[in-house]
Amino acid sequence: MTRKTWFSLCLFFLLNGMSSFAAENEREPYDDRYCTSCHGTDGRGNEAVQAPRLAGMEPWYLQRQLENFRAGIRGAHPRDIEGIAMRAMAVKLSNRSIADIIEWVGSWETGPAEITIVGDASVGEILYGTCAACHGSNAEGNEAIAAPALAGQNDWYLITQLRNFMAGYRGTHPQDRYGAQMRTMVNGLGDVTGIIDVVSYINTLSGNQGSSRLIQN
Ligand code: HEC
Ligand code: HEC
Repeated sequence: MTRKTWFSLCLFFLLNGMSSFAAENEREPYDDRYCTSCHGTDGRGNEAVQAPRLAGMEPWYLQRQLENFRAGIRGAHPRDIEGIAMRAMAVKLSNRSIADIIEWVGSWETGPAEITIVGDASVGEILYGTCAACHGSNAEGNEAIAAPALAGQNDWYLITQLRNFMAGYRGTHPQDRYGAQMRTMVNGLGDVTGIIDVVSYINTLSGNQGSSRLIQN
């Protein structure tokens, strides 16, 4: 290699390195805090745009969902309208932004979502027997088996997700390992009535707060 080629090579790598460094710093992770425009100012969810509660979400679950949306493992099915909307938001996120968002979301006040549905919670309690093995008897979630907390989440969102799993809009991507595990569980609910009943029962559970919430009709 001549000295001239060597010099140009060095210059090339130097400039290249500098430009990627500049690109890395162009966007601050703070720029990606647009989540509340859909998920609500307090992160408690917004039914009008079908964006669920993020406040109180476990960091490991939040991270995996953002990574799955970004990679097209979730929100890829053409009939998953809400998932597709969310996927468009996640594709812009860098790993730094995701880490920043997890910290930011973790600083929000949490509290159970408003109850919006009425089903047969006593039938739901029986149906929930299977779910408890993974999501916990108080719907508090279980990180060891990657099953998120369900207690306190917006009931309309839980219903959409169970319907999506049942219809194969979620949990069918070949790389969606955890979604696939969940998908095999929905058949036991039978149909939409079973879904509403089980979610009505979940509405009575208080996650890791300990005692059960009162059923409000
Ligand atoms: C344009 C509206 C919109 C914006 C902005 C938005 N989201 Fe979403 N998000 C949604 C919708 C709608 C869903 C429900 C998707 C579904 O049904 O699968 C969702 C779902 C999610 C989920 C899945 C929740 C769960 O329980 O599995 C997470 C996590 C999430 N969003 C995080 C974020 C974060 C973090 C941001 C900001 C970087 C953000 N979203 C910005 C609309 C939005
Ligand atoms: C074998 C363990 C297992 C069982 C049993 C199980 N689930 Fe799940 N569930 C999971 C896992 C794992 C996920 C996370 C999927 C992912 O990461 O996308 C999940 C996700 C969910 C979600 C989506 C939550 C969200 O925020 O998007 C709902 C709703 C849900 N489960 C409800 C139920 C109900 C109701 C039952 C009982 C009929 C049940 N699950 C039984 C493992 C299980």
